[in-house]
Amino acid sequence: MDEAWAHAHRIDTSTAHPARRYNYLLGGKDYFPVDRDSGEEFERVSGSAKLTARENRAFLQRAVAFLATEGLDQFLDIGTGLPTADNTHEVAQRINPRSRVAYVDNDPLVLTHARAMLTSTPEGHSCYIEEDLRRPDKILNHPEVRAAIDLNRPLALMLVAVLHFIENDAEAHDIVQRLLDALPSGSYLVASHMTIDGNSPEQAAAYRALVAAGRIDAFTRSREQFSEFFAGLDLIGPGVEWVTDWPEPLPADQRPPGIAAYGAVGRKP
Ligand SMILES: C[S@@+](CC[C@H](N)C(=O)[O-])C[C@H]1O[C@@H](n2cnc3c(N)ncnc32)[C@H](O)[C@@H]1O
Repeated sequence: MDEAWAHAHRIDTSTAHPARRYNYLLGGKDYFPVDRDSGEEFERVSGSAKLTARENRAFLQRAVAFLATEGLDQFLDIGTGLPTADNTHEVAQRINPRSRVAYVDNDPLVLTHARAMLTSTPEGHSCYIEEDLRRPDKILNHPEVRAAIDLNRPLALMLVAVLHFIENDAEAHDIVQRLLDALPSGSYLVASHMTIDGNSPEQAAAYRALVAAGRIDAFTRSREQFSEFFAGLDLIGPGVEWVTDWPEPLPADQRPPGIAAYGAVGRKP
């Protein structure tokens, strides 16, 4: 990406940002050298950051298609990421053109790209707001979110590859609970999360060292810890699984080795 443009738009190019690093790992072109270097370091240590990013994105798309096919037509997608192919509203509106999507991200670069690229079908609706997951009430009460989403009807709350940026467990659980409390019965939580459960002890130690040195800001959780976000929800399909294995568990010999993220979908009773 162009540094002069970034400077004019007051985009920080001196430290890696999750949205841009993820774009690099996905093979996009909306990143700066600092994001590429961070992505490559991530790849070196985990051995599977690019693969996991692609499989995580595929999980998001399968979950949206699944829910849209079930008749769900509202999506609150927090931690949107930079627009890429087959964003949430595109997948949902392909199945139901009347689908409505509110996107939320705290990265200003996402805002500039999203406003230009996240255009809805005429029958549906999509909006994008810059807000922080740490302020769930601000998100829920935002006028653009309220115009897009009817909180009296079931919707999908999407927290895909974003909860691992909230390090503190109590804070992360409080955020998810406050969001879920605002949703009616029949709503869904779609979430994925980075893990080092599948890494070798050496890889896991190297990853922890990277986090401790402040070189990566994705705080992994175990399967058990991630499952706790779904307490009180009815898990759909195989439950909490590797992102590759939802909704259809793969035979172990067909799962790409090194996947480092879990995914799950739960329904609020
Ligand atoms: C790894 S990307 C995931 C994008 C998309 N959800 C997906 O899974 O394909 C994480 C996104 O979460 C955003 N993010 C990180 N912390 C956030 C926070 N506290 N509030 C809102 N967005 C956040 C980043 O800017 C980035 O765009």
